[in-house]
Amino acid sequence: MPDTAKQTTLNAEYPHLPLKDQFALVTGANSGIGEGIARHLAAAGASVAINYVVRPETAQAIADDINATGRRAIITQGDVSDEASVQEMFKATLGQFGCLDIVVNNAGLQQDAFLTEMTVEQWYKVIGVNLTGQFLCSREAVRHFKQRGKRDVSVALGKIVCISSVHEVIPWAKHVNYASSKGGIMLMMKSIAQEVASAKIRVNSIAPGAIKTPINRSAWETPEAEAKLLELIPYDRVGDTDDIGRAAVWLSSDASDYVTGTTLVVDGGMTLYEGFATGG
Ligand code: BGC
Repeated sequence: MPDTAKQTTLNAEYPHLPLKDQFALVTGANSGIGEGIARHLAAAGASVAINYVVRPETAQAIADDINATGRRAIITQGDVSDEASVQEMFKATLGQFGCLDIVVNNAGLQQDAFLTEMTVEQWYKVIGVNLTGQFLCSREAVRHFKQRGKRDVSVALGKIVCISSVHEVIPWAKHVNYASSKGGIMLMMKSIAQEVASAKIRVNSIAPGAIKTPINRSAWETPEAEAKLLELIPYDRVGDTDDIGRAAVWLSSDASDYVTGTTLVVDGGMTLYEGFATGG
């Protein structure tokens, strides 16, 4: 949804432009959490490439908002689960930006089913986008950071932010493909972080809890559903994409320069096991 006024408000959150002169790519940024992250990174001064697979008009509307407020965004097509498509997307984005400093692995989806009903296609689809997609984009990012060398815009050579989920630690019945992909992201992120730390590349994850986006609409769109969801959230509110956008700015900026290989949980306490608040 075009929302220039919202972008103007976000821009005012970052008067010191912590990501000034940096270039960022956000995958799956034409809706939901990815859109929120793209808007916040742009507000913080980065030029942002908004990746989409289909529906370019949704990505363009977000880019138009950002550009209308004096920040910078472009759109870039690519299917993160496809190796050739990822390489083409990096090439096209670098063709326009010249370099990248920040890559946010956000693209993700759910295809929920009971184990006994889950098809292998549903398994491969979710693992392909959520986990293999993050591997492919991280690999291109690290190749690029090392090849382009140090820039004066940040202490680090480059930053990668992986969007995981509370389901990297909370098992989730009827979502075995999704929970497996998120658990995989946790050790993928840590293993890459360990491998590239000496090259001054920082790799971290954000684990969102329940955030109001299209992916979980049925869990919050009626008052009854929202009340049930809130039983799982000690802080007693469902999150919004700004909560994740702010965390992404911090993990991308030099303010978090000593942070690598960690998961920042942004969940209103969902991983505190609310059921134990009154018993156990
Ligand atoms: C899922 C949402 C869910 C949330 C908390 C997220 O990773 O995509 O559907 O509401 O975790 O369970």
